[in-house]
Amino acid sequence: MNERIRADFPILKDIIYMDSAATSLTPEPVLEAVLSYYREYNANVGRGVHRLSQVVSQKYKDAHRKVAGFIGANEGEVIFTKNTTEAINMVAYGLNWAKGDEIVTTLLEHHSNFLPWLRLKEKGVHLKIVKPNKAGLFELSDFEPAMSDRTRLVAVTQVSNVLGTISPIKEISAICKEKGGEDSLFLVDGAQSAPHIPVDVGELGCDFIAFSGHKMLGPTGTGVLWVKNPNELEPTLFGGGMIESVSKDDYTLAGGYERFEAGTPHIAGGIGLGRAVDYLKEVGTGEIRDYEERLAKKLLEGLQSIEKVQVYGSTNLNERIGVISFTMTGLHPHEIALMLDEASDILVRSGHHCCMPLMDYLGLKDGTVRASVYLYNTEGEVDTFLETVERIAKVV
Ligand code: ALA
Repeated sequence: MNERIRADFPILKDIIYMDSAATSLTPEPVLEAVLSYYREYNANVGRGVHRLSQVVSQKYKDAHRKVAGFIGANEGEVIFTKNTTEAINMVAYGLNWAKGDEIVTTLLEHHSNFLPWLRLKEKGVHLKIVKPNKAGLFELSDFEPAMSDRTRLVAVTQVSNVLGTISPIKEISAICKEKGGEDSLFLVDGAQSAPHIPVDVGELGCDFIAFSGHKMLGPTGTGVLWVKNPNELEPTLFGGGMIESVSKDDYTLAGGYERFEAGTPHIAGGIGLGRAVDYLKEVGTGEIRDYEERLAKKLLEGLQSIEKVQVYGSTNLNERIGVISFTMTGLHPHEIALMLDEASDILVRSGHHCCMPLMDYLGLKDGTVRASVYLYNTEGEVDTFLETVERIAKVV
């Protein structure tokens, strides 16, 4: 499948891109979808009756429908946001919090699934933090004592953006419903899972899932919040396009996603995201998962065999994806990233990966180097990566 896919990413002609966990590359069909909006039917959505308005409103709606289908959700439940961070903040700001409410989260979280909850301490909300083991895996029994009848929300990432480990979301959801408060809600950070493993919201048993379009072949500035019961979440922005009616004293909100998308949205981005989802479905989410697993195996085995290299996260391929963090004795992660770029045009992320509490816990004050692969990477690129890391390790 690779040659055909690579032709859709001309940017790859002179780089080895292994930073897809930060943002993925964008294939030609997605770029074409974005451009065709501006070239062929550039108009606002849901605001007019003229011909372009009708065309674009339908295409924007279709994009929501495609994304909903991608995660096994219904129409009207998928809200377009600018990224995962915005999506999670919409939940933090859109629920009514009372003093004494409790939120359960974990030490594995990206800052965007941590700070919105930490900030609620100001409202008297208590944060309970479940620790994974040092390989990034949870003992389910650790969640039980964290829950109580004051638990309003459990917020957990499905895949760690540092360690690549997959969390047992279904099982955590069951504990949340059984041991949490009567109306406790479960939010999944799907930023690193939705692009790489098949995700079905019904199976996960969550109330919210947030993810980023730009990490799954979509344009930057696109993200998603899926809400099981849209009517139970307050919108955080008010204005044009999100109402049924307004009088001088009152207003009635629109139903579905529209009530959460006040103002002119990122129309081209949303349409591009719809195309990205089609692209992923054409390749097959199961096929993508299997292919990345092969690359991850090669990466893990190769890195583990290099002296001075320490690899983090579980090495069991069933419980991880192709996001692989490592360090090398004697070199700062940023130095390694620069050397990889200079020596072999390999682009990786280095540092704390927006996960400072996890880095503290793992004792990694300078963070890690993180290589993350996607459907457009090749085994040949993994070989070049491993050879280059080996050469760097020899000169330290
Ligand atoms: N969340 C992105 C990352 O992990 C930015 O790199």
